[in-house]
Amino acid sequence: MTVPVYLDCDTGVDDALALGHLLASPRADLVGIGTVHGNTDAAGAAENTLRLLTLAGRSDVPVAVGAASPLVGDFAGGAVAVHGTDGIGGLRGSLPRPACGPVMEDAADMLLRLSHRHPRELQILAVGPLTNLALALQRDPSLVTRVAGVTVMGGAALVPGNATAVAEANIVHDPEAAQITVTASWPLTLVPLDATMQQTLDESRRLRLCASGSAFARACGQMLDTYLDFYERVVLGRRAAALHDPLAAAVMLGEHRTVTAPRVPVEVDCTRGPCRGQTVCDLRSQRRVRGDVEGATVRVVQDTAPGYADLLVEMLDRV
Ligand code: RIB
Ligand code: CA
Repeated sequence: MTVPVYLDCDTGVDDALALGHLLASPRADLVGIGTVHGNTDAAGAAENTLRLLTLAGRSDVPVAVGAASPLVGDFAGGAVAVHGTDGIGGLRGSLPRPACGPVMEDAADMLLRLSHRHPRELQILAVGPLTNLALALQRDPSLVTRVAGVTVMGGAALVPGNATAVAEANIVHDPEAAQITVTASWPLTLVPLDATMQQTLDESRRLRLCASGSAFARACGQMLDTYLDFYERVVLGRRAAALHDPLAAAVMLGEHRTVTAPRVPVEVDCTRGPCRGQTVCDLRSQRRVRGDVEGATVRVVQDTAPGYADLLVEMLDRV
């Protein structure tokens, strides 16, 4: 039994890993992909995604180019130090050219169309800035009635940010869109840095990917070289890197166990001060009872079971 999944991404190295997890999963029917500004420009993310789909033999999956800039302000220029100048560790040029380009509709219109095609079954996995989701909600607020669930890689609840002292990259690249998304009346699971920084992939697993029988897995192993360089140099001081986006895919599909994930009120700071883009998660319920807050719609994943990297390597071997 599969679920229809719409992926919204800024392909990016770890976005590519999330794509691989979705393609390998027996639980996911990937019915469409929208790209957004973030790790690279939205058009470049679409080119990366189309080439990766071609490599995987999945050119049947439609790709739509989404928002080139946030609701307020301009495209931040990409995360070149983390994901390389092309967004995927310099690998774009060595991936196969796609037979077809992106579809004509933009990502928000693709999402709305898919919500009518898969009413009350569609799952949204958003692993980039949330501009496309906010645009879709603005164009048709009834979207929330046709979506089974939304899973977002983004935010930082009780840990520091990675883009600023308090803000995580996907959220701070469009705080207004994030606020619209997390306060909409649909069931939303937030997979923040609290959870994703606990799940890392090291050099030994990267080398296993480079030696895989799957061309897609080998490409992931190669693009992870740049990604691990950055994390070793700037973040962890050891040769490993966080599996932000693929962990969100696994959580959405129920293929990796969450340990602590209370449903609590969440707001995004949209002021112009030092806390812009902070996800303010009201976890005071943990002082009373470790449980859900009545009426809250956002499940905040704080801890997951260890060892997701080994599952991911297995999944990528199958693509
Ligand atoms: O902060 C990590 C997130 O920002 C990931 O989705 C990564 O791909 C970037 O988009
Ligand atoms: Ca991403």
